[in-house]
Amino acid sequence: MTSYSTLLVEAEGPRGSITLNRPDKLNALSGELLDELIAAAGWFDRQPAVKVVVISGAGRAFSAGADVTGFSTVDDQPIHRRSDRGRQMADALEAMRAVTIANIHGHCVGGALVLAAACDLRVAAEDTHFSIPEVDLGIPLAWGGIPRLVREIGPAATKELVMTCRPFDAREAHALGFLNRTVSADQLDDEVEALVSSLVAMPALPLEATKRHVNAVTSAMVATDRAWSDAHALIAARNDPESQAAAERYMARFRK
Ligand code: COA
Repeated sequence: MTSYSTLLVEAEGPRGSITLNRPDKLNALSGELLDELIAAAGWFDRQPAVKVVVISGAGRAFSAGADVTGFSTVDDQPIHRRSDRGRQMADALEAMRAVTIANIHGHCVGGALVLAAACDLRVAAEDTHFSIPEVDLGIPLAWGGIPRLVREIGPAATKELVMTCRPFDAREAHALGFLNRTVSADQLDDEVEALVSSLVAMPALPLEATKRHVNAVTSAMVATDRAWSDAHALIAARNDPESQAAAERYMARFRK
């Protein structure tokens, strides 16, 4: 199996798991972690026995979203590639053959909602804190997050949550249709395991056919293909003075 520095990746019979493993940084989605998720998605597609993959976060959060320290870091990647990794991650997870389940607890912020939205099913602890702070941070929600949220919760709820950046709880996320199930934090893993057990008992071919068919229908309704240009919107916002000032204010609050 490939080795990863920011993930734990396991497969046993029909069950697979990906654990985001930067607990001291609340599993912030660094460029390296995004690249490793893309690699892990590809690896699982080469494991024919695996029917279901659970994606969860180590420590006290599912994920606090994009690694904000990376915003000011310059690496050797071309700027579009650097800004496009999140979209590639979401596309890679969504295209996986196995059924994917996001097991969400603690915090689920910004890009982590896009990650979760790219999974087939979502189960969350009732006390999970959700928020989409991008606009407050001076950037648009990228990574194909807009079409995925419109697909899952509709245009009006997407606009409200993305434009106001107000936090919301698991009860609201469930009522909006973003979550399949919510349970108390101490029952979360058992609930996810019950879902996994019911899915792995099913024959692989119709499972995959159902996933592919639903994805084909939703992509005809709300396509994510145009999200390649999300990276350009990110780059534009980083060069816009008012958005830059918002980013500075946000980062000053975050660092306090
Ligand atoms: N990127 C990079 N590091 C992050 C991070 C992120 N998105 N979110 C949290 N961390 C790091 C913190 O810097 C801190 O590291 P440190 O201990 O080395 O200082 C550690 O994770 C714990 O975070 P902390 O803020 O102390 O936890 P908290 O429980 O007080 O607050 C949050 C939790 C999620 C409310 C808060 O961490 C937060 O607002 N994070 C930023 C979320 C964000 O803006 N994401 C980007 C969306 S585009």
